[in-house]
Amino acid sequence: MEALAALTTRVSPAALDLPGPSARELETILQAAIAAPDHGRMKPWRFILIEGPAREKLGALMAESLQRREPAVPAGKLEAERKKALRAPLIVVVAAAVQPSGKVPEIEQVVAVGAAAQNMLVAAHALGFGGFWRTGAVAYDAAVKRALGLADGDVIVGFLYLGTTKTPGQPRQNDAALVTRRWPG
Ligand SMILES: Cc1cc2nc3c(=O)[nH]c(=O)nc-3n(C[C@H](O)[C@H](O)[C@H](O)COP(=O)(O)O)c2cc1C
Repeated sequence: MEALAALTTRVSPAALDLPGPSARELETILQAAIAAPDHGRMKPWRFILIEGPAREKLGALMAESLQRREPAVPAGKLEAERKKALRAPLIVVVAAAVQPSGKVPEIEQVVAVGAAAQNMLVAAHALGFGGFWRTGAVAYDAAVKRALGLADGDVIVGFLYLGTTKTPGQPRQNDAALVTRRWPG
């Protein structure tokens, strides 16, 4: 798909299915990720690929996290949380390993990783796949970060669910961009 078409037509699908990207397509998606602007070339991004049965382990982590936050959570809600990790054939945990730096503020390192995540969604779309970005409280759970091999100070910027679009998302309204076109007036 042509670059501008990919950028302007991406929407989050409502449901995903098999197949996920091939190994080669995944490399392309990861190359797109690391083409994001990176102040100081600090390479703050970390990508954890979760596929196949490993998704069940992620689902268990997500359910445990929910149970810690809500000890009285009903069994059905817990099961729904566990199944979230099975919504796509591939989940990419996109994290920022934020380094102390006198030059590059932490937020800029996180923003760079956000740009990498967006590049991944657009690259996946350009290759014919669907993807959606999720966070939620689980992304801020220190125990989840540790289980994923991340440090407490790392930031989970998103869980990217990637696969073949089963149910398309809502086409977006072409609102005018929120632009101040003539500043200072
Ligand atoms: C950092 C970030 C975190 C997000 N987390 C969630 C989330 O946890 N749950 C959710 O429903 N949408 C979340 N979204 C929004 C969806 O990924 C999606 O962008 C939104 O539903 C709008 O759909 P669209 O991508 O088709 O415009 C998040 C988006 C970003 C940028």
